[in-house]
Amino acid sequence: MAKKTKDDIPMGPTGRPYHGFDIPAPLSSHGPARIIALCNQKGGVGKTTTSINLAAALAEYGRRVLAVDFDPQGALSAGLGIPTHDIPTIYDLLLDPKRDAHDVIVQSATSNLDVLPANIDLSAAEVHLVNEVARETILSRVLRQVAGEYDVILIDCQPSLGLLTVNALTAAHGVLIPLECEFFALRGVALLIETIDKVRDRLNPAIKLDGVLATMYDPRTLHSREVLERVVEAFGDDVLETVIGRTVKFPDASVSGVPITEFAPEHPAAQAYLRLARELVSRGAVA
Ligand SMILES: Nc1ncnc2c1ncn2[C@@H]1O[C@H](COP(=O)(O)OP(=O)(O)OP(=O)(O)O)[C@@H](O)[C@H]1O
Ligand SMILES: [Mg+2]
Repeated sequence: MAKKTKDDIPMGPTGRPYHGFDIPAPLSSHGPARIIALCNQKGGVGKTTTSINLAAALAEYGRRVLAVDFDPQGALSAGLGIPTHDIPTIYDLLLDPKRDAHDVIVQSATSNLDVLPANIDLSAAEVHLVNEVARETILSRVLRQVAGEYDVILIDCQPSLGLLTVNALTAAHGVLIPLECEFFALRGVALLIETIDKVRDRLNPAIKLDGVLATMYDPRTLHSREVLERVVEAFGDDVLETVIGRTVKFPDASVSGVPITEFAPEHPAAQAYLRLARELVSRGAVA
């Protein structure tokens, strides 16, 4: 039986009372988008899984969502069932700012959820952009074309702190940091925070840390619980109350090319992403 607080609310895994968060009220109008970058230079921590499923959860609550695939691996595009071979991608927009982003955006099978796809071409972007004037603000200029039409734009960053990620941080209003509840979860996070601070100082004074999201949590292992405890010690209330459990449903859903909220809507993992969406609305990170 989970521990209870004095008001008889069960204690959540982050050591705070477990709130369900209210279902967000429908929006009467849409846009301009709040832009959130999902960043962690450590690989395999759940950036793409969170981008896909948070995007789908927000779309389910009637938010108009654009998911930006900003990783040459194209995992976000693939996870939303979008074939990326031989189509225009975000890379074309970065290279040619006169190109219309509307021509590159693809509708996903989920209503309210559009995708700006990427493929391996994007791996050449850093080399091409390094000599550009204002090379850090190129993505920001691309997203400006369409921000008015969406309520939220999620950018799925690649596992690096290079020029593409700096572009994402420069375009964003907020950053969401997924951390895997595993060995070395906090290793490298200081460097990530330092990078965000530098971007705030030099390029994007308004950028905020929207939250740290614990992923792949397994309450049965002492290790997972200890890592989460240390993450809470390090980040306090910036750690989101919603924690994403470890489950094989995610790899399964990715293979099928649909978000977990559609693949297995009743599964606790789908419910966790819906709750994350509600928590971010309640924190004001999303309209
Ligand atoms: N909560 C979870 N439980 C179990 N497996 C998960 C969970 N979240 C993600 N995964 C799996 O872990 C792997 C890495 O996840 P994901 O691709 O989302 O991480 P990433 O941070 O985007 O990785 P990269 O840095 O390579 O882009 C994937 O195979 C994914 O299906
Ligand atoms: Mg990824």
